[in-house]
Amino acid sequence: MLDHLKENNRAWAARRIAGDADFFSRLARQQAPEYLWIGCSDSRVPANEIVDLNPGELFVHRNVANLAPPQDANYLSVLQFAVDVIRVKHIMVVGHYGCGGVAAAVDGQRRGLVDHWLHPIREIWHDNRDELMAIADERARLERLCELNVLRQVRNVASDVFVHEAWARGQQLHVHGWVYSLANGLIKDLNATVGPAD
Ligand code: CO
Repeated sequence: MLDHLKENNRAWAARRIAGDADFFSRLARQQAPEYLWIGCSDSRVPANEIVDLNPGELFVHRNVANLAPPQDANYLSVLQFAVDVIRVKHIMVVGHYGCGGVAAAVDGQRRGLVDHWLHPIREIWHDNRDELMAIADERARLERLCELNVLRQVRNVASDVFVHEAWARGQQLHVHGWVYSLANGLIKDLNATVGPAD
């Protein structure tokens, strides 16, 4: 089963070695990425591909609606490993316009477990109700909610104790907020970068 994917894989590995004979043996020894990407699970937002990075260059955590919930053991484990062990220099929280998770959080429909997962987005909605309701166009309102969600997750990451401990020991580490556009493939920097001096 899935023979086409296995065939794709063999062809991909062969192409890699053709261009760089040492590629896999070098990666097998160690990973030393400089970046942690916290993004959405959406299949249209493939982390490495968007920023054109090779295997070994990007540490990745993805979940529905790119959340960084301070009680989530999965996210926290990734964050601690990235900050304490790999010592990444940058963490990017990457949302995307047209995020189904963000839309589902506020459309009033019941879906089950995911409603609980998306609860932080409903809080963001309520905290920014005036700004959001002032936007007449529903799509534009959801796009703004995607941005506000990224800004909140940047704040979550930047206020985490692992990050604060890293800054206290002089580690250079910055947290960035980005939003990706499915429509044109481009990333927008929300200019919400937080670093040790902030
Ligand atoms: Co999404």
